[in-house]
Order: sequence, then C-alpha cells, then structure tokens
Amino acid sequence: MNQQHNCDVLIIGSGAAGLTLALHLAQNADVIILSKGPVNEGSTFYAQGGIAAVFDENDSITSHVSDTLISGAGLCDEDIVQYTAENAKACLEWLIEQGVNFDQESNNNGDVRYHLTREGGHSHRRILHSADATGQAVQTTLVSRVKQHSRIRLFERYNAIDLICSPSPSPSSENTESTVSTGGTGSTKIKSDDESKCVGAYIWNRNNEKVESIQAKKTILATGGASKVYQYTSNPDVASGDGVAMAWRAGCRVANMEFNQFHPTCLFHPDAGTFLITEALRGEGAILKRPDGSRFMPSFDERAELAPRDIVARAIDFEMKRLGADCMYLDISHKSADFIKQHFPNIIEKTLSLGIDITQQPIPVVPAAHYTCGGVMINKKGQTDITNLYAIGEVAYTGLHGANRMASNSLLECLVFARAAAFDITESLDKTHTSITLPAWDESRVTDSDEEVVIQHNWHELRLFMWDYVGIVRTTKRLERALHRVELLQKEIQDYYRNFRVSNNLLELRNLVQVAELIIRCAMERKESRGLHYTLDFPELKENAEITVLTPKT
Ligand code: FAD
Ligand code: SIN
Repeated sequence: MNQQHNCDVLIIGSGAAGLTLALHLAQNADVIILSKGPVNEGSTFYAQGGIAAVFDENDSITSHVSDTLISGAGLCDEDIVQYTAENAKACLEWLIEQGVNFDQESNNNGDVRYHLTREGGHSHRRILHSADATGQAVQTTLVSRVKQHSRIRLFERYNAIDLICSPSPSPSSENTESTVSTGGTGSTKIKSDDESKCVGAYIWNRNNEKVESIQAKKTILATGGASKVYQYTSNPDVASGDGVAMAWRAGCRVANMEFNQFHPTCLFHPDAGTFLITEALRGEGAILKRPDGSRFMPSFDERAELAPRDIVARAIDFEMKRLGADCMYLDISHKSADFIKQHFPNIIEKTLSLGIDITQQPIPVVPAAHYTCGGVMINKKGQTDITNLYAIGEVAYTGLHGANRMASNSLLECLVFARAAAFDITESLDKTHTSITLPAWDESRVTDSDEEVVIQHNWHELRLFMWDYVGIVRTTKRLERALHRVELLQKEIQDYYRNFRVSNNLLELRNLVQVAELIIRCAMERKESRGLHYTLDFPELKENAEITVLTPKT
C-alpha cells in the first residue's frame, strides 16, 4: 500500500506562482508544496531582467496594456491584459512587504525611488529589478517566508506523476473517464458522482524512490514551462511541461502551444551551460552586431534592439544562417565600466569566469527556447476545466501574452494569478469535501528498467528534432516530419512506462513527448505567421486573429 498524505491545498511547483499562492493561503489552509528538485530549482530563480509594473508617474496602465497588446500581435485577451496591468502595482508592493529588495535610486531632489529599467516592447521604463538577478531575490525571499509558516509543508524532490480525478462528463468521453495510469498496469477509475473533479495526485518520492499519493480539496498546477522540449534553452532542467501534460491527460483543454518564445540572447560559449544575457542590457543601450562589428537590427525593425523578442530572435537567426556564423554579438562596452558593474554584476561574474570582459569586448550570443506562451486554459480565477483543479504561472494560458510575451510580464502573471486563485480558493475551501480513498498505485506488473539507454536516446532525439523542425522558422513539411517522429516516440515511451518502474527521466520524457505533440498540433492548425509562430508556407498574417484551442479526444 502506498503512503497517502492529506492536505487542504496541494500546490505542485515551488516557483514564483506556487510560493505566492501558498503564502496567500497559509492563514486559512493546510498546504503542501511539491518541488521536483531542490526548492529553488525552477525558472523563477534564474530570472534576470525584472517585473513589469507602472511605478513611474509618466507611465500609465493604458501604456502597459497597449505595449502588451502590440507584443502579443493581436492575440491577447484585452480584458486579461487590463486586469493584469491594473493589479501589477499591488502585487509588487506585496513582494516588497515580503522582503524583496528591488534596486533604488535617488533623483536630483534626493528623493529615493525604485530604479526602473527597460526591455523590448516597453515604451517606458517600468521594470523593477534586483540588479540582474531579480528571480533569485524573489525566490529566496519567498522560500524563507514559506519556511516560517507552520501550515505549509514543503516536499522537496517529489515528482507529481498524474492527477487523480473523478469522472468527468466533458469536454471528452475517453480522456475524461477519470482514468489514472498506475505504474504500468493500465488504469484505475474512481467511483464518484458525475461531477468532474480533481482530488489529488500520485507523486514519486525521489528520496526513497517510492510512489505515494496526496489527497487534497484543491490542487494547483504551478509547474512552470516546457522549454526543455528544445535542444537549446535558457531554462533549468525541471521545465519539462509536466503540468500541461498532466492536465491534458486529465481532460483539460490547452491553448496556443505553438507560441514558444526564443530569447534572442543566450550566452554562446562551450563552457557556459545555459546562461541568459538579459534584455535589460539592450534596454540600457547594448547593440547587436555581426561578427565583422556592423550593426544589423535597424534594418529589420525601426525599434532596433528594443523590438519585441520574436523580431530580434528571427533577425539573429536570419543573420547567422545567411553568414554561416555560429553566433552574433551583443556589445555594451561603450558604457562606462562602473555603470556595467553596478547594473549587471551577475553577468560580469559569469562572463569573466569564461574569459570575456564585457566592459571591453562584445558578448557572443545565440537565441534559445525561453518561454511557453500557451498552456492549460484557465479563467480569471485560475480555474481549469476540472473542478478543484487550478493552474497558475507559466503552465497556464491566461490570454495575457497572445502570440508573443512581452519581457517581464511573466513573473507579473505568476503574482497576479496566484493572488486571484488564492481569493477563490479561500472562498470555496470550506464548501469543498473530499472523502475518497485514493486507489493504490499498482506496481505488481512492472520491473526495474534494464535499458536506460532507450530513455537517454529518446530524450536527445526529441529535443533535437523539435529544435530543427519546430523552431524559430517552420514549414508544414518540417512539422509533419516532427509529428511522425513524436508518434513513434510516444508509442515506445508508453510501452516503456507500462513495463518499468518510474524514474525522473522517464516521467519527464513521457511529459515532454506529450507536450511536443501539443506544440506541433497547434503549429499545424495555424495557417499564418503571427508573433512567435513563423512558417515559410504561410508568411502572411490572417485578417482575423484566433487562438488555437486543443480539446482532449472526444
Ligand atoms: P517555475 O519558477 O519554473 O517553477 C516551477 C516549479 O514546478 C519548480 O519548483 C519545479 O520543481 C516544479 N515542478 C515542475 N514539474 C513538477 C512535477 N512534475 N512535480 C513536482 N514539481 C514540479 N520572466 C520575467 O517576468 N522577468 C524576467 O526577468 C525573466 N527572466 C527569465 C530568465 C530566465 C533565465 C528564465 C529561464 C526565465 C525568465 N523569465 C522571466 C520567465 C519567468 O522566470 C518564468 O516564466 C517564471 O519564473 C515561471 O514561474 P513559475 O512559478 O510558473 O514556474
Ligand atoms: C531577460 O531578462 O531578458 C528575461 C526577461 C523575461 O524573460 O521576461
């Protein structure tokens, strides 16, 4: 019998979204937070540039809304954009109350105020930041607050495997039959009333390699994005799209998965690993150059280096392919060394460790997969299609980002929707009852894997063909090729999953291949080029902008 835990609220994910929600709920609920790896390991920790909000008297909500809509290339939900921009300041003030130190400056009168930086797509300085390591400041502050709460339990190194749901009448019959995969022995149904609802999750305890379960009145997916589906990414390893895959298997709709954001400037160096060079560098005047030192962005867009990300990433990709170059260069060496050291200490430390002095020389950069704009469809309260299941943060599709997320709107979305979900959960928690005995995880027909190489091989293959065929520039033929390969991999991985005990690599691969399928299917649906989705077969923009929605099988 596997161990069962109980709580009011299960939050799967310990990034900005999950931690913020937990802190908003902790007075009223017993909360468990799951973290797949060490608690800090998620995209939040690595965020550099900052968080957007209107703090400057010359800026306005209208302008924040308008910039977001322009970046989103006609596909944002205007109501959600307005709601997010309006709530931004209060959410930032809450973060400041928790103890996050954002950089400040004095003006000529000696008044101290927050230093606001600028990034692509923003027409004003509106980004609060902690030097160039904003995410680290947010993550470590929130974790330390969470650790002070007696009603929050933190389960580190636990993978959520699948959601446990009662039968679901819609949107599909097959996928919403509340079937849960149980260690390869097929599926288990929970008997309950006709309402579709989530009652918890199966989890894999990586510390003792046992499957356990958690029963919860409310379950929240805060699992971050899926950029690890690509060979080159700015994201940490945990970004394997688990939340989208789990929600899809449970019967939730997903939207806009074709819009993968490629950050234009990741450090290009054999020993760099994945390291981002923040857009704030361009916000403070850095210039993109070809290997011969010539500037190229003005010939692609009048906003030059501060054009939205899709445009800059495509321009770099174009120039690299045209010249057969390994990378382009980002140059801030015309600014004073003192200025660079004050604003970008983290980047200086990293680049110097690789022998690059950015106060004197340009930085070699390439685009890399950075952000998943699509995700699990939610409403303004964070609710998904399944009762008692919420999704917040990068895993969710809210309508804020449209076809291309504007810089520094993502951490903001985590904060705004975590707060919205907290209101809704607090209001409805007392009316929610769970009295189900969760079905035991059945491992009677699985054995230990004898061929780990299969997993490794499939991992590499998937990420490489996603990069080559479903990357910055797409074609219908490439997408078809990718889908064919995904279908083969899915079959192989499903067989493997049925026969062998789970492991982190297997769980992540199973999710990644599911998410890859959703990305490709969304991309194939879109017969135009818009925002981050660019295809040579349909280079034009359609007149009517529509989001792509996928519904689990009917
Ligand atoms: P994450 O912070 O990614 O956290 C996900 C959590 O889910 C982790 O704790 C992980 O362990 C857990 N998890 C995942 N799967 C499972 C599972 N199966 N079981 C249990 N736990 C699981 N955005 C901005 O707005 N401003 C920036 O300056 C900025 N800079 C960025 C720089 C970098 C290098 C990167 C990678 C991203 C940046 N972004 C930025 C984007 C932003 O950081 C992310 O979108 C945001 O942090 C996502 O937060 P989250 O809470 O949704 O997920
Ligand atoms: C960056 O600092 O360039 C990343 C900002 C973001 O992804 O929002």
